[in-house]
Amino acid sequence: MTTVDRPAYFDGFMAPVPDEIEAVELEVTGTLPPELTGRYFRNGPNPLPGSYPAHNFMGQGMLHGVRLENGRAGWYRNRWLRTPLLDGVRPDHVNPHGPNGVLRNNTANTSVLHHDGRILTLAENGFPTEVTGELGTVGPFDFGGMLKTAMTAHPKVDPVTGELHFFGYGVTPPFLTYHVATADSRIVHSAEIEMPAATMMHDFAITEHHVVWLDLPVVFDFELTRRPGFPYRWSEQHRPRIGVMPRHGRSQDVRWFDVQPGYTFHVGNAFEDALGRVVIDAVAYNAAGFNEVWTGVGGHPNLDTALSTAPSLGGSLYRWTLDLTTGAVSEHPLDDLPIEFPTVNDERTGLGTRYVYAVSNALPLDESRRLAVVKYDTTTGERTSHMLGQGWVPGEAEFVPAADGAGEDNGWLLSIVSHEAANTAELLVLDASDVTAGPVASVRLPRRVPWGYHGAWIADEA
Ligand SMILES: [Fe+2]
Repeated sequence: MTTVDRPAYFDGFMAPVPDEIEAVELEVTGTLPPELTGRYFRNGPNPLPGSYPAHNFMGQGMLHGVRLENGRAGWYRNRWLRTPLLDGVRPDHVNPHGPNGVLRNNTANTSVLHHDGRILTLAENGFPTEVTGELGTVGPFDFGGMLKTAMTAHPKVDPVTGELHFFGYGVTPPFLTYHVATADSRIVHSAEIEMPAATMMHDFAITEHHVVWLDLPVVFDFELTRRPGFPYRWSEQHRPRIGVMPRHGRSQDVRWFDVQPGYTFHVGNAFEDALGRVVIDAVAYNAAGFNEVWTGVGGHPNLDTALSTAPSLGGSLYRWTLDLTTGAVSEHPLDDLPIEFPTVNDERTGLGTRYVYAVSNALPLDESRRLAVVKYDTTTGERTSHMLGQGWVPGEAEFVPAADGAGEDNGWLLSIVSHEAANTAELLVLDASDVTAGPVASVRLPRRVPWGYHGAWIADEA
């Protein structure tokens, strides 16, 4: 692991916790919906004590878990993902397929996927790492030997068939490989997708008939590998494009659309509208917004031009509409609030959503600013929110459908919020149909949970 002097993100709301703990029978304020019986897992980097990775993305993964059962909060625990990296084995990037190759030995620090009865933790530079319901590490999962590339931390599960669409990207050709696995984890399709350069492709999208590729201007820069940190940066030279390809398609089937320069870490959802156009709702950054956030976690700034000194809004909700018949692109922001971690009702992945949930962006955290869990109605343009108290930082808000949930927003939002100064955290449960009403319940966690990335709700019956 590359180490430097203590980076800025080691203090404040991103600061790692020093150890693994457990607490049982947690204090609940309000009423936990009894139907929320299962586990909420949230992943994120948590460098081992004494190690100082130069970029927040490079810290060893730590899973935080909260057990809910019939209105009780049974336990909280946190566990490092026990990849060989944890024991000091350096990941081998030269021979990624070897026993200590990065495919098997990565931080596992980004997201959680529940699919085919397995709980997988994902980081985009390697195989998933399987864990148990008690947060114990099982080991790397490579789809029975069928996966030969890294796997994105943002695979998409078809809500109707359970089919899993995902990709791997890397810094050497093939830069992008598309995979489809069945609901029982057999990889039935893999295709290399030709790309002009190695771009940072953190997310993608599916629609009912298509796969959507984001070829955006944050590129791998070999020169940056000589310096500590993550070797990607914004490039004014890279031509930004969005690709639309039929599901189960191949490289020659991709239809590319030129778009305005912008970067997206996360897609909320994509779908086909009544006219058959592909609509993508995502959080998009301009160059200044990207650089502001990127350098805040240890990334290298834009080297093409001087960093913009203009105030930046960070990333905000943005919509692209791609017309496959005419080739026309329409794109515009849906709001100007800086947000991240867009989520939707996963039962509508690729099928169309009216509501997108998100949290206001903590990076960089302005101490006077209060952060919020927000809900967008993309039909009316309305944004509603649950404002947190000063000093509280929200994590991704995961949508869980209600047991009798018929409407798209009939369900709950789960978000771990932490207060850095008070060393405390809560799991909030909000009614997704009315976030302004405030939490229906909050579960007191034994201490703060470092700001991290993505989570998943794993219901008992699932
Ligand atoms: Fe992500």
